[in-house]
Amino acid sequence: MTTIENPTAAGSGTAATDKFKGAKFTAETTPERLSAIATEAFAGFSALIQKHAITYPEYRVLKQWLIDVGEGGEWPLLLDVFVEHDIEEVNSRQLEGTKGSIEGPYYVPGAPVLPARCTLPMRDEDRAHPALVLRGQVTDLRSNGLGGAVIELWHADDEGFYSQFAPHLPEWNLRGTVVTDSDGRYEITTIQPAPYQIPTDGPTGQFIEAAGWHPWRPAHLHLRVTFPDKQPIITQLYFAGGEWIDDDVASATKPELLLDPQLDEQGRKVVDYDFKLDPALY
Ligand SMILES: [Fe+2]
Repeated sequence: MTTIENPTAAGSGTAATDKFKGAKFTAETTPERLSAIATEAFAGFSALIQKHAITYPEYRVLKQWLIDVGEGGEWPLLLDVFVEHDIEEVNSRQLEGTKGSIEGPYYVPGAPVLPARCTLPMRDEDRAHPALVLRGQVTDLRSNGLGGAVIELWHADDEGFYSQFAPHLPEWNLRGTVVTDSDGRYEITTIQPAPYQIPTDGPTGQFIEAAGWHPWRPAHLHLRVTFPDKQPIITQLYFAGGEWIDDDVASATKPELLLDPQLDEQGRKVVDYDFKLDPALY
C-alpha cells in the first residue's frame, strides 16, 4: 500500500506561484482607472480601520501575515479562494452560454491530448473506484456542434489531491486535453473526485482557523473549453447533494453547474453535460 504524504501548503504554494510567475501578464488599465480603483480600495481600508478601531498589535500581525503569504507562495491560493469568484462573476455577466466558475490555482497547460472518447490518465488505485463518464456536446449558442473543440479537464483524486501539486502522484494524473469529434461530441471516463480542504498548514490555513471558518471545497471537476473565435469557458462541475455544495470556502458553486450522475448497467456513474460557447468577447 502506498503511503500518502499530504502535500504541504509550502509545496503546493510554491508550485502555484512558480507556474504563475512563468507567464508575463499585462492589462490595459489607464492611470485614471487605476487611481479611481486604488482610491476606493484605500477608502475601504480606512473605513474598516475606523469602524473596528484596529489596534497596533492587529496591524503588526496583519503585516507579518501578508509577508508570510508572499514567502509561502500562497498569493494564488488566497486570491483564487477569496477573490476570484467576484472577478469571474463581473466578467461573465454579458455571456449567454454555459456558466463559468473560478479557475483556481491548480490548472496546468499541456496535459496529454486525448481523443473524443477517452479515459483520463490514472493509477490502478484510481481505477479501483467506480468510473465516472462525462459526455455531451460542445456547441455555439445556436446549438451547432463545434467539431474539434478542446476540453481541458483536471481534477483531484479520491483523496482530494491534484497531480503536480502532490508529490506522490504521476505528472498528468487525472488531467487531459480532449478534442471533440466532428460534431463537437465527447465522452470522458474518469473517477469522481473527493471534496478537499485547501492547504491548512500555511498562512491561508492559519487565517481560516483563526477566524473559525472551514477550509473545504465540494467535490468538483475543473474544465476549460475552447474553440477558435469563441469565448473560452473556464468552469467547474459539482455533484448534486454533495458535501459543502452550499458552503464552499471559495464561493464558486452555481446551480447550473450541478451534475447528477446515474448508475448504468455496468456500474458506471454516467452524466451528460453540454457546453455552449459565446462568440469571443476579447
Ligand atoms: Fe479544485
